[in-house]
Amino acid sequence: MILPKQIEMLDSTLREGEQTPGVSFSLEQKIVIAKKLDTFGVDFIELGHPAVSPDVYEAVEALNNLNLNAKKMAHGRASKSDINDAVTMGVPWMGIFFGTSSLSLKHKFNVTKAEALKRIESAVKYGKDKGLKLRFTAEDASRTDIDYLIQVGHLVQKAGADRFSLADTVGCLTPSKMKKLVMRISSEIDLPIHVHCHNDFGMATANALSALEAGARCVDVAVNGLGERCGLPPLAEVTTALTEIYKINGNWNLGLLPELHNTVKSFSKLDSNVNQPIVGKNAFTHKAGLHVKAVAKEPKSYEAISPETVHRKRHLVIDKFTGRAALKNRFAAMNVTIENIELDAILLEIKMHPEKVSWNDEALISLLKSMNRKV
Ligand code: COA
Ligand code: ZN
Repeated sequence: MILPKQIEMLDSTLREGEQTPGVSFSLEQKIVIAKKLDTFGVDFIELGHPAVSPDVYEAVEALNNLNLNAKKMAHGRASKSDINDAVTMGVPWMGIFFGTSSLSLKHKFNVTKAEALKRIESAVKYGKDKGLKLRFTAEDASRTDIDYLIQVGHLVQKAGADRFSLADTVGCLTPSKMKKLVMRISSEIDLPIHVHCHNDFGMATANALSALEAGARCVDVAVNGLGERCGLPPLAEVTTALTEIYKINGNWNLGLLPELHNTVKSFSKLDSNVNQPIVGKNAFTHKAGLHVKAVAKEPKSYEAISPETVHRKRHLVIDKFTGRAALKNRFAAMNVTIENIELDAILLEIKMHPEKVSWNDEALISLLKSMNRKV
């Protein structure tokens, strides 16, 4: 697969991640997250939208003073007051957004297409006059009339924007539609393209990757996929897929993913799914007897990537799905040799107890002892 030479990650955990229902990070927590994201190697960190509340304002100010390699970006509306916030604080980058779909124009702003263009143009020019590096996001781009979207792109390019971002605000694109959209916009607009994908149909990661395949420069991600409703593409999924499937060397510190996952999980006080790719509890756990037998010989049989890549360990579960090889393997790991007749008896016992969903070493040894075997 041919991807652009330069691929960038923009992490929005501190901005859109905090829009997740139930989440409000303290300043100390935001600093911890920002530093870890920087060590991980994201290109942009969205610090927050200062107009939201005094605590977000103060956090953006404090985060902007951190010594980070990542580019710092404030988020705000296409309005002078939001742009002034970023300028006052000296945040180098600002991401401004304006809904461009008919739904947005009518119900959010009650403006005509021409009026919206004027507002967008004056905001971009204002931000550029103030010396900001500027990303303009067409909110709800995926439901915006394509000719109008191209008109918006031309306008912001002419007004001096540095990046043009397409938001799939309600997550209604499919990977093939995303590809078509990015290819069309890149053929018309001479600015690096960003995409902001939402996960309402579970396609955020696929759509983000598809956008990169089509030539987009940068995708928005969030740790654990936090964000409004069903969230954004998870940082772990996108960067690991790019590294392992697309063979991109993004200089990302993938070994830091479990730590980022756990930190944000504890700060956000949100449970994560056990089957979450890469960082979920079960991502490298095998259960069915035939799987475990094959994995014991060659882990690649049932693993797309090695757990060591992301500093994790492989686990093999013993329960009613276990086979002889898996059980023998577990006893061998405990340095216990076991006769075939014992193995069969233990296996039978395990299969007679479907309510026990995981047999640990201790339980297996006591099962063996109960068969009058001295271990
Ligand atoms: N660009 C320019 N102006 C915008 C805008 C945009 N993208 N989106 C909304 N506005 C304008 C509205 O037209 C309205 O203008 P008006 O007062 O002239 O009618 C104004 O912003 C809305 O202001 P207000 O009525 O005070 O809304 P509010 O009480 O919801 O406060 C926020 C605004 C931003 C402080 C508040 O909504 C908030 O904290 N939001 C969280 C951040 C957020 O919504 N992010 C969306 C990210 S995609
Ligand atoms: Zn969003």
